[in-house]
Amino acid sequence: MEIVLSGIRPTGNLHLGNYFGAVRNFVKMQDEANCFFFIADYHSLTTHPKPDDLHARVKQVLVEYLAAGLDPEKSTLYVQSDLQETAELYLFLNMNAYMGELERVTTFKEKARKQPDNVNAGLLTYPSLMAADILIHKAHKVPVGKDQEQHLEMTRTFARRFNRMYQEDYFPIPQAFNFGEELVKVPGLDGSGKMGKSEGEGNAIFLSDDPKTIRKKVMRAVTDSGPTEPNQSKPEAIENLFTMLRIMSTPDAYNFFDEQYNNCTIRYGDLKKHLAEEIVHFTDPIRNRILELGNNEQYISKVARLGAEKARESGRKTVNEVREIIGFKSF
Ligand code: TRP
Repeated sequence: MEIVLSGIRPTGNLHLGNYFGAVRNFVKMQDEANCFFFIADYHSLTTHPKPDDLHARVKQVLVEYLAAGLDPEKSTLYVQSDLQETAELYLFLNMNAYMGELERVTTFKEKARKQPDNVNAGLLTYPSLMAADILIHKAHKVPVGKDQEQHLEMTRTFARRFNRMYQEDYFPIPQAFNFGEELVKVPGLDGSGKMGKSEGEGNAIFLSDDPKTIRKKVMRAVTDSGPTEPNQSKPEAIENLFTMLRIMSTPDAYNFFDEQYNNCTIRYGDLKKHLAEEIVHFTDPIRNRILELGNNEQYISKVARLGAEKARESGRKTVNEVREIIGFKSF
């Protein structure tokens, strides 16, 4: 079976944009491939998180992905730092990662510009660590967004370089995997662009938001003073609301409000009320699971231990083989 792998940065809570983007597709993929999903807590050290924050964030991410439907029985769901062999493979890969190519990586240059007082070596070698994540399970496919394509290209370079250096067809060359049509872009509520956590207060609806918060955010979504001519085209903010409606509600409801827009009788308040209830209806079971799981320490640690065990079984095998290929021998 094909091996699919993805890393999840432990930053912030899941919002509807994440859900209809990657998360829902991760959930589906569990039935189709041998999936590895891990929380990239080693990577997050580049920004020097406080010890207490680090653990809390990892836990929250684990809880939210479980609540959204990742199944620890179907997939290998683990915390990156529980697979310490990742760090060893990272070390090996770094020996064949060159300064020049690392310095040219766009995300590195951006980070260096954004945090000039913390341009650490971990930031520079971020692609080696990501390559270690991928190669340690010999993954074939990696679902990544545009921003990660260059990193994946580096992984391919490192894998090929290793294979060539040791004259062995050892690492499969991983391919980027795009969800294509399945990737639904959810617009934000501020009238422009897509939903994102960094776009400002109220732009994103989180899976953990309670109904009151959701209603408030939707009612405050940006609109205009309404259409004045029949069938006029929709400005971006209005188009965004309709897109949300299309994602969250039924075709009937969409057509109902669309018709009202076209004959200029629409009241945005009604549309928003309807939309808010649809969102609440959708997120409420997930939010309840988040609350439940968040309080179930025992279950969460069981999931983390199971994931660590499965990840180690796969990861240790690779690292032992790599050690042998490199030429380490025990006395
Ligand atoms: N760099 C990825 C991101 O920023 C997270 C990540 C770490 C990752 N290791 C990975 C993604 C391995 C895919 C495969 O989102």
